[in-house]
Amino acid sequence: MATIEFVDVTKEYPNAKTPAVDNVSFTVHEGAICMLLGTSGSGKTTLLRMVNRLIDPTSGEIRIDGVPTTQQDPIALRRSIGYVIQQVGLFPHLSIEDNVRVVPSILGKSAAETRDRVDELLHLVGLEPAEYRKRYPRQLSGGQQQRVGLARALAADPAVLLMDEPFGALDAITRARLQDELLNVQRGVRKTILFVTHDVEEAFKLGDQIVVMSEGKLVQEGSPIELLAQPASDFVRQLVGADNILRQFEYQPVTAALEPATDAAQERIAADERLLPALLRLIQMRNGALAVVRDGETLGQVSLASVFASVQSIHRNASAASGEHNRSADSAPVIR
Ligand SMILES: Nc1ncnc2c1ncn2[C@@H]1O[C@H](COP(=O)(O)OP(=O)(O)OP(=O)(O)O)[C@@H](O)[C@H]1O
Ligand SMILES: [Mg+2]
Repeated sequence: MATIEFVDVTKEYPNAKTPAVDNVSFTVHEGAICMLLGTSGSGKTTLLRMVNRLIDPTSGEIRIDGVPTTQQDPIALRRSIGYVIQQVGLFPHLSIEDNVRVVPSILGKSAAETRDRVDELLHLVGLEPAEYRKRYPRQLSGGQQQRVGLARALAADPAVLLMDEPFGALDAITRARLQDELLNVQRGVRKTILFVTHDVEEAFKLGDQIVVMSEGKLVQEGSPIELLAQPASDFVRQLVGADNILRQFEYQPVTAALEPATDAAQERIAADERLLPALLRLIQMRNGALAVVRDGETLGQVSLASVFASVQSIHRNASAASGEHNRSADSAPVIR
């Protein structure tokens, strides 16, 4: 795991009227998935490619674990960072096995060690090694090729993974499956991941952190729930659908609506669940309450009343805090 710091990073391409990336500063937390979200041309790819020095900033600095990338050899740096792009980039004339094996850190190991590592990686991304090892990229579907791309990026066991719209070309079902797969992989082999997308749903599903870009500028950085509760501008508000109450329920943890437990609690729900499943269950139960439990211990309960109260208080805090963001009081979302 590693932290990635962007410090006043600017990139001006020759002959461009405005910078592609304009004075951007933020930190990707260790072990987090940070989503770079923004419209086409907002500078996401440029920002990403500056991390492994495929592009160098015009000014500013990027530090990985405190060390400026400019102090590292670009080739060595690139080998130490996983990179997955939309156009997978598998070698068409090499088998799947060999495609994963070309990673320098695997080269030079014994045949048995290499084989074990390749099998382990294929397993990790959900491909049965016996079935896929000997195939060629053209004998794989787009989604399967993308899995191989991910396996290859993980082969060097990099602390940092850069992903540029890796699932952008896939159908919705395959994309959802690969997103789940990535979250699964991440639970096991925790990496610091910088992930480019222009898909808001994807950003919310995968992101621990979201960085919203517009015209080269960072317009807001925060957790999904911070973006929903306190969008810094109307642009962010519309982009993330901050007025969408369902989304609020989808991303708030049940613990946000905790009230003291009473006899009304008929069923239990785990403390790491979200409000939406709790709400659906409460509606089905036609009332009552759910005991919120963690490690067998009851923390409290949630009821229809406490769920609504929690979402209201989020909005109230948001509209109080957004005084600085010159949002007028009457534009604060109203629930009920
Ligand atoms: N090599 C280049 N030379 C000149 N301008 C470039 C170059 N690469 C990108 N740009 C410009 O920089 C800006 C940011 O491009 P970038 O590819 O970073 O955007 P993006 O957010 O990744 O967009 P998309 O979602 O379409 O991939 C755009 O205006 C683009 O035209
Ligand atoms: Mg791009």
